[in-house]
Amino acid sequence: MSYLRNFVSSRCLFHHSILPSVNTSACWHGSRTRLFSTTKISMTIMPAWVIDKYGSNDVLRFTRNASFPVIIYPNEVIVRVHSAGLNPLDVSMRGGYGAATMSMKRDPLNIKQSGSEFPLILGREASGVIMECGLDVKHFRERDEVWAAIPPWKQGSLAEFVVLSANEVSHKPKSLSHVEAAAIPYVATTAWSALVNTGGLSKDNCAKKRILILGGSGGVGTFSIQMLKAWGAHVTVTCSQNAERFVRGLGADHVVDYTAGAVEEPLRALEKFDLILDNVGGDTELWALNLLKPWCGAKFVTLVTPFLQNTDRMGIADGMMKTAATVATKALKHLVKGVHYRWGFFAPSGPALDEVREMVDAGQVRAVVEETFSFSQVPQAFEKMEKGHARGKTVVQISRGGDDL
Ligand SMILES: NC(=O)c1ccc[n+]([C@@H]2O[C@H](COP(=O)([O-])OP(=O)(O)OC[C@H]3O[C@@H](n4cnc5c(N)ncnc54)[C@H](OP(=O)(O)O)[C@@H]3O)[C@@H](O)[C@H]2O)c1
Repeated sequence: MSYLRNFVSSRCLFHHSILPSVNTSACWHGSRTRLFSTTKISMTIMPAWVIDKYGSNDVLRFTRNASFPVIIYPNEVIVRVHSAGLNPLDVSMRGGYGAATMSMKRDPLNIKQSGSEFPLILGREASGVIMECGLDVKHFRERDEVWAAIPPWKQGSLAEFVVLSANEVSHKPKSLSHVEAAAIPYVATTAWSALVNTGGLSKDNCAKKRILILGGSGGVGTFSIQMLKAWGAHVTVTCSQNAERFVRGLGADHVVDYTAGAVEEPLRALEKFDLILDNVGGDTELWALNLLKPWCGAKFVTLVTPFLQNTDRMGIADGMMKTAATVATKALKHLVKGVHYRWGFFAPSGPALDEVREMVDAGQVRAVVEETFSFSQVPQAFEKMEKGHARGKTVVQISRGGDDL
């Protein structure tokens, strides 16, 4: 009952419909009367893949009765998902990775019982169509085609609908299908956060910069190569020998095969770098920072950080303290050698996607879809992700303008 009440009042207060053909009804709320839509999406349930506990692939469950997303804040939109991109984060989150931090974000006052995040919907990327807009949403209208990266504490895109803040959403590139568009937002906003916000790169300062991408053949790498090449950088990539042609096809200038022996040796023979993006982790930071130009503002940005493991293992307070101490110690240790050590994080951003859209529609960046699965094949898509050795992205096609797949 309380759910229904929230559902109705949120529709009364915070959304408006611009579709000319919708029926409207009066809704009383306090002293105000407002028209609200009674389009066919005024439903309470929808199809989705959910998990009810953390675990391996067998925790994935298809349901036709997942809660329909609700507009709670006036800057939110409901998107009908046509395609959803998968990432290694989805496999990790299925197993409980980051659960402590995500729970704190969802329920900062710690009022709810543990496990209140279930049933949880995974999927951090969406391409689809706006179905409803909150009252404060100015930049989007119903039926707009959009793409978005979804914060990890929100319900995800392996569902027919998802609710997002308008500032997380961007108009989809016209030149891409929904399947292609769903392959970009998470990796693009991660690369943007790491390379632009943390690394200080931009389209105006990349010419002649030498960039090294450790792990260039997966989702983040394939996007980063293309963006950096579009900005005029010289890009060196490490990957398996069998991915060399693939990453060269995306624009990589120089490729080093990490399976042929200690990868640091051929890299050491090269001219030093202005920035290293580390998608690999492990022992890379023991040797890679020596490949940077010292005392020139050169940066090592790693996407493989212990932040969420620390909070999962030690709790929020201790995990954050440990994280802060670790990153500060490492940054200081490298600063005295004249190079910068940084951690990069996925950061959903509609404005970043607006800039990426321009590159995509200008033909500078293309979607790299390795494999597409139908909505009924989500467990198979996760199995594929678990095998690793990605060559681009895995995408789930959820609906085609109203037809479930
Ligand atoms: N901090 C954050 O917020 C954040 C956000 C996004 C991603 N990440 C992390 O960043 C990493 C990359 O993400 P992704 O989406 O690009 O992953 P992905 O799509 O799974 O790609 C990883 C790629 O790296 C290659 N690889 C594996 N070991 C390698 C090595 N030693 N040297 C060079 N290449 C290697 C793999 O192919 P082969 O095994 O065939 O070589 C694969 O192509 C993941 O660890 C992910 O968890 C972190």
